[in-house]
Amino acid sequence: MLQIILLLLPAVVSDQWSVRYPPSICAARGSNVTINCTFTYPPENDIKQVLWCSMRLNKGKCHYQPYVYDSEANNSQSFQYIGDKTSDCSLLISNINQAHSAEYRFRFITNKEIVRWTGDPGVNISVHDLRVSMCRSRENGSTIPGDSLILSCTLNCSGKLAEVQWFKNGDPIQQSEPVLTFSRITAKDSGNYSCSLRNFKTTLSEEFTIYIEDVAGSPMVLIIVVSLFSLVFITTAVMLIRMQLQSSLIKLKSSLIVIVTSKK
Ligand SMILES: *[C@@H]1O[C@H](CO)[C@@H](O)[C@H](O)[C@H]1NC(C)=O
Ligand SMILES: *[C@@H]1O[C@H](CO)[C@@H](O)[C@H](O)[C@H]1NC(C)=O
Ligand SMILES: *[C@@H]1O[C@H](CO)[C@@H](O)[C@H](O)[C@H]1NC(C)=O
Repeated sequence: MLQIILLLLPAVVSDQWSVRYPPSICAARGSNVTINCTFTYPPENDIKQVLWCSMRLNKGKCHYQPYVYDSEANNSQSFQYIGDKTSDCSLLISNINQAHSAEYRFRFITNKEIVRWTGDPGVNISVHDLRVSMCRSRENGSTIPGDSLILSCTLNCSGKLAEVQWFKNGDPIQQSEPVLTFSRITAKDSGNYSCSLRNFKTTLSEEFTIYIEDVAGSPMVLIIVVSLFSLVFITTAVMLIRMQLQSSLIKLKSSLIVIVTSKK
């Protein structure tokens, strides 16, 4: 019995001193990141000082400066300690950017001299830009009306994103899914698309441009394909195309009139 207790003892002792971090964090540039963190120590201690260090700037157990947060110094606005001196060591990094990508470690010092503890290894944060990527039904050549096309808002270190905000030519679109699907694309869908995390305009991606050739493009393709077959087919096809062109011209004219009148 005594043997078992003795074997367990070292584990119990080291469990008293601990820092728990979340798994590695993938962050979008421009967002606010919270590192949820908890720490424990033997009950007879009181915490005097709490510190956070970045392994980009510091080394080992962060015995010396610099610290990104030091409860006994003035700190950068980007790093706010939202924990306490009891058990919560959470840190908020606001408007995070690529230069903040690093491993971070929490260190605390008790009122008893020499009793200091650093949570090692720390937590890794990698920061990336949001990006718009495209996937389309037609692999080669230009996309034409009727093709399907999918735009995705992605962060290359994360799985599926939660809610996002899409923009077309800078104006918000009603769509919170990280995927925009055009099952039958039209020339009207042409534009510059970008996305951000919901409520974080500062995470805005670069614009991705879609240009869809107008309706006139599809009869042209038709002619080339049909000419491989008989003359009879060509004549009927041309007639069909003419009819299509005429009707689309009429549509175009009427929509132009609408535009002109609405501009006035
Ligand atoms: C951190 O904790 C807060 C409140 O306890 C919670 O709302 C938030 O989702 C947590 N963040 C992560 C990344 O786990
Ligand atoms: C991000 O953090 C900064 C600094 O604390 C704050 O001013 C800003 O409102 C936060 N942004 C959001 C969207 O919470
Ligand atoms: C598309 O283009 C690539 C190279 O440019 C070629 O390898 C592939 O075979 C083409 N696919 C089709 C369906 O033509």
